[in-house]
Amino acid sequence: MGKKKLVVLTGAGISAESGLKTFRDSDGLWEGYNIEDVATPRAWRRDRQLVLDFYNMRRRNVAAASPNAAHAGLAELEKDFDVHIITQNIDDLHERAGSSKVLHLHGEIFKMRSEKSFDFVKEIREDIRLGDCAEDGCQYRPHIVWFEEPVPMIEEAIPVVQSADLFAVVGTSLVVYPAAGLVNYAPFEIPKFIIDKRIPYTSSVYNVTAIEKPATEGVKELIQLLTA
Ligand code: APR
Repeated sequence: MGKKKLVVLTGAGISAESGLKTFRDSDGLWEGYNIEDVATPRAWRRDRQLVLDFYNMRRRNVAAASPNAAHAGLAELEKDFDVHIITQNIDDLHERAGSSKVLHLHGEIFKMRSEKSFDFVKEIREDIRLGDCAEDGCQYRPHIVWFEEPVPMIEEAIPVVQSADLFAVVGTSLVVYPAAGLVNYAPFEIPKFIIDKRIPYTSSVYNVTAIEKPATEGVKELIQLLTA
């Protein structure tokens, strides 16, 4: 028999113990910045430098961070399960921990693209500067999904969740759509797990085990439950 398919939706909370700030906790990024000023198409039109500065800082922070035991635990589960990570995070800590199937719903901090086209995407490890142009002659922007922009990867994520045998959610407040709506695509009766320091509100989700712990401890407990 093949391995069971374990689908894991992750958010900023899984990277918190790696020293990366979440968005909505009391010390979160949206306490220090207005979403409208740095993470919308309007912000980009108004002040490209401010937006670049914000994401250049994010990129430096991610480059300096390392995966934690929660990322590593999910990677280890590939020994026993067909693990599919669907992450809202723009960091690459799942990949660095060794997870082989990682879908980024909200983009990737180590990529940039032409502000006019998805056809010109390029890896970037350093800062993006004003005047850095893609092959189409247009300014490079972070390859990030901003508020008010479509989330193209959701189309790929939905069937992955629909075909899960087991479903887990780790470290997300489940307030940003369409990502949060993925929970409702998991087959009704399959076992579901939510790991979070503060379990987020969900409605009409059946067969859920809530593990109210930091991600590193919570994933350890998940592994015990799944491999017992
Ligand atoms: N372990 C587990 N959970 C934690 C930890 C931790 N150490 N620290 C914080 N959390 C939880 C919080 O309780 C909260 O439920 O992580 C969640 C973080 O929520 P948000 O800050 O809202 O992050 P996220 O859900 O990933 O945000 C979604 O919003 O602005 C955007 O595009 C951005 O992808 C992001 C999206």
